[in-house]
Amino acid sequence: MKAIVVTDQAAGTAGMRLVERPEPQAAINDVVVQVHASGFTSGELTWPSTWTDRLDRDRTPSIPGQELAGVVTALGYGTTGLSVGQRVFGLSDSYRGGTLAEYVAVEARNLAPLPGDVDFAVGASVAMPGLTAWQGLFEHGRLHAGQSVLAHGAAGAVGSMVTQLARLAGAYVIGTGRAADRQKALDFGAQEFIDLDNDVLEDVGGVDLVFDVIGGDIGTRSAGVIRPGGTLVTIAGPTEARPADGLAIDFVLVSDRAQLGEIVQRVRDGRLRTNIGNIVTLDNAVAAFNPTKRISGKTIIRVRP
Ligand SMILES: NC(=O)c1ccc[n+]([C@@H]2O[C@H](COP(=O)([O-])OP(=O)(O)OC[C@H]3O[C@@H](n4cnc5c(N)ncnc54)[C@H](OP(=O)(O)O)[C@@H]3O)[C@@H](O)[C@H]2O)c1
Repeated sequence: MKAIVVTDQAAGTAGMRLVERPEPQAAINDVVVQVHASGFTSGELTWPSTWTDRLDRDRTPSIPGQELAGVVTALGYGTTGLSVGQRVFGLSDSYRGGTLAEYVAVEARNLAPLPGDVDFAVGASVAMPGLTAWQGLFEHGRLHAGQSVLAHGAAGAVGSMVTQLARLAGAYVIGTGRAADRQKALDFGAQEFIDLDNDVLEDVGGVDLVFDVIGGDIGTRSAGVIRPGGTLVTIAGPTEARPADGLAIDFVLVSDRAQLGEIVQRVRDGRLRTNIGNIVTLDNAVAAFNPTKRISGKTIIRVRP
């Protein structure tokens, strides 16, 4: 099968190569999925799980990509809950990756049924941002109606889901990002927008929850705008930032079939919009992951036409 592999961590996305690889086999409780559409987050190439297995042994050449939508073609021994021929979407385990390929083996529990009226590209595009936003807002941030949320990168893949899901939950949402992203963030439902290059973040006053996708100095300063009892949720990597009187939570998403079902239901009934910036073929994916101009939104790989 065709697959994109990486062998050199220092090379980043420039080190990606499209090659021929053996098709994966379904292990116990796995399914093999014929990938129709998949996605990738550039942060993956900085995660240890792309390069080593859980015992820290080199697993290169590894196939990146965790996000997928496709059709089940085989079941491993003992696998229940999904069947051959079923449309599915979700995330593979980060120590396995493998979705930038024609076939991938995934634990069945990490996938959910993809309804027939939802396009594979849409399914692949909502899995990672949708689960991340859901878990950050509702499990870790314990958001409830009437609270305020500062959604960093509100025009980006995760930030646009954070903005929409927080609004659906009855929160007041202040989006942030680059000047050029103002309208896009407002279109996704942000009620105010802070241009991080030209406005003063601290002018936001106090918020109940900050959802940080940027980190660094922005993450540190964001801790200072949280009200007593509020929460800083970050997905941008380990941070020392702490609200003076509140919680800081730094988490990595996990796949969850029930939450994928909640997310896709909101996509079907029009309450959630996906944020796809670019759709390319597997043959053109390496070039697309090394863009010469800025792409806002997710790049989705249509593996089968
Ligand atoms: N821990 C987890 O479970 C988890 C899950 C998903 C994603 N992530 C990580 O979260 C991060 C965001 O992912 P994503 O898919 O949402 O990325 P994305 O689509 O690129 O969104 C990030 C947004 O923030 C903006 N931004 C970044 N730095 C900025 C700055 N200094 N000032 C103003 N705007 C800025 C980006 O603009 P530009 O494009 O112009 O920079 C973009 O609009 C990535 O690092 C990803 O690896 C972690």
